[in-house]
Amino acid sequence: MRRNIITTSDGSKTIQLVDWNEQYHSVHGALAEAQHVFLKNGLQYRLQAEDIITKDKRHLHIAEMGLGTGLNLLLTYDFLTRERLDLEVTYTGIDKFPISYEEQSQLDYEKYADSLNSISFSAMCKQTWNTKAMYSGGFSLEKKQIDLSVYIDNEPIDLIYFDAFGPRVQPELWTEESLNVLVSKMSKNAVFVTYCAKGVVRRSLQNLGLRVERLPGPPGKREMLRGVKEN
Ligand SMILES: C[S@@+](CC[C@H](N)C(=O)[O-])C[C@H]1O[C@@H](n2cnc3c(N)ncnc32)[C@H](O)[C@@H]1O
Repeated sequence: MRRNIITTSDGSKTIQLVDWNEQYHSVHGALAEAQHVFLKNGLQYRLQAEDIITKDKRHLHIAEMGLGTGLNLLLTYDFLTRERLDLEVTYTGIDKFPISYEEQSQLDYEKYADSLNSISFSAMCKQTWNTKAMYSGGFSLEKKQIDLSVYIDNEPIDLIYFDAFGPRVQPELWTEESLNVLVSKMSKNAVFVTYCAKGVVRRSLQNLGLRVERLPGPPGKREMLRGVKEN
């Protein structure tokens, strides 16, 4: 499939799949979308929960469906290290078709993090698939090259970044069955976030037992979805 690197409205870059007319991020701002959907409404929201504040929970497992360019990973790692929360984090990145390091390095994402964190990010991008590695600040990255439909996670998940290509091009990834591959592993208070706001996805998440909110979306999108596993 033909691939281009394009610049989105906020000046950050992303990859475009020409034949699908689909991008790895929103054309209205790749960085803005990642910060709004996944950082602010996902990670930062999860970190405000009672169990984190009272320090009952010392380990967080984040799973990202569609690790792609690693932008969400970079922003998450940078945020966590700057906050010094004394929290151990395992980040599982799932992707069936990983991008090459050569393509990734053309996106210039390093400038969105502290310089030391950018050096770690570069190592994360070079990390071999299907391995787990430790980085500073108690952060482990597990990279899984696998189709979502056959993925099995043995560890409960506290935060899901669901960042598949849209239902227009990959409807099979947005069915109740596909969503349940990750949702079924959510722990109490776990949070699921996605940029997609389609009614059918919202109803599937509700059927799977989540309390679902429609939140204002990132630039160029009216809404996004957040689901919370309340018990
Ligand atoms: C929207 S992009 C991910 C964007 C990414 N989160 C980022 O920040 O760059 C969707 C990703 O899903 C991956 N993907 C497509 N089909 C998949 C499947 N069946 N199972 C797992 N990953 C898949 C693609 O390779 C692509 O990297």
